[in-house]
Amino acid sequence: MSKIEEALAKIQSKPRPGGAREPLPRVDLPAAMNVDRDAFIERRIVTAVFESGPAVEEYKKLRTRVLAWLRAAEGNVVMLASAGGKEGKSLTAVNLAVSVARELHQTALLIDADLRRPHLHQLLDVKGQPGLSDFLMGEGDLSGLFHSTGIPKLTLVPAGTPTARSPELLASQRMSEFLEEVRRRYKDRIVILDAPPVLPATDAVILANHVDGIVFVVRAGGSAREDVQQAVRQFDPRKVIGVALNGAVDTGHYSAYGYHYVTSPVMAGVG
Ligand SMILES: Nc1ncnc2c1ncn2[C@@H]1O[C@H](COP(=O)(O)OP(=O)(O)O)[C@@H](O)[C@H]1O
Ligand SMILES: [Mg+2]
Repeated sequence: MSKIEEALAKIQSKPRPGGAREPLPRVDLPAAMNVDRDAFIERRIVTAVFESGPAVEEYKKLRTRVLAWLRAAEGNVVMLASAGGKEGKSLTAVNLAVSVARELHQTALLIDADLRRPHLHQLLDVKGQPGLSDFLMGEGDLSGLFHSTGIPKLTLVPAGTPTARSPELLASQRMSEFLEEVRRRYKDRIVILDAPPVLPATDAVILANHVDGIVFVVRAGGSAREDVQQAVRQFDPRKVIGVALNGAVDTGHYSAYGYHYVTSPVMAGVG
């Protein structure tokens, strides 16, 4: 069995969500966080709201794995990919980025590279423009792209105006220059790219050329195994950090609206 197959087999052997759940105690938001607590819980950005808890711990494990990989690769750019849409890439990207930013001495830059269906600015309550696509189309300068979030040490580059010219823009010389500049200017920063799905278009494969590591997100009950394998095969195996099995563990948190169902990714080793 290949490593990917082993990882996928684990999804099936995990208990499916829906059993009895132990609610977690309410934990106060750290004072420095300037976010709408209940909206963030509703959107499942648990790392911004809770210090600990089963979902938060899983994101911390993912963070540890990614940081160790980047250290070994002497790089700082990681991408989240998946075969199809709605696997939880964007959610995982945000929780990973917040988790990195909350670590002492770590700063995170989150880039929404899904230029067709931008989403991260909504998740983080940040203005969507100007963003990456606007810059790549030649409008505005680099400095206007970096938007602060309500989370200390976390900056977002939103995707900008949605565009179908995404592959052409991502493959452009301007994109290479943008990422080179980001790498050079923010050497100590962990850069997290949220990519569009792999199978419908070439965008994610183009993006992969620019990154030091790739986390593959697979939602339990999501894409078919063959699709995941086909998608993973598009990447240089030396860049694949592992598979994050999203939704494999049943965890939860309280919000003002009652118990909130949240599941989190479990890292399954590939490399
Ligand atoms: N583990 C999870 N538990 C519950 N809902 C989830 C989970 N992962 C993702 N979702 C929800 O599924 C939808 C799609 O997730 P998203 O991160 O936008 O996927 P993608 O970026 O892969 O298209 C969102 O509404 C998100 O809140
Ligand atoms: Mg997405």
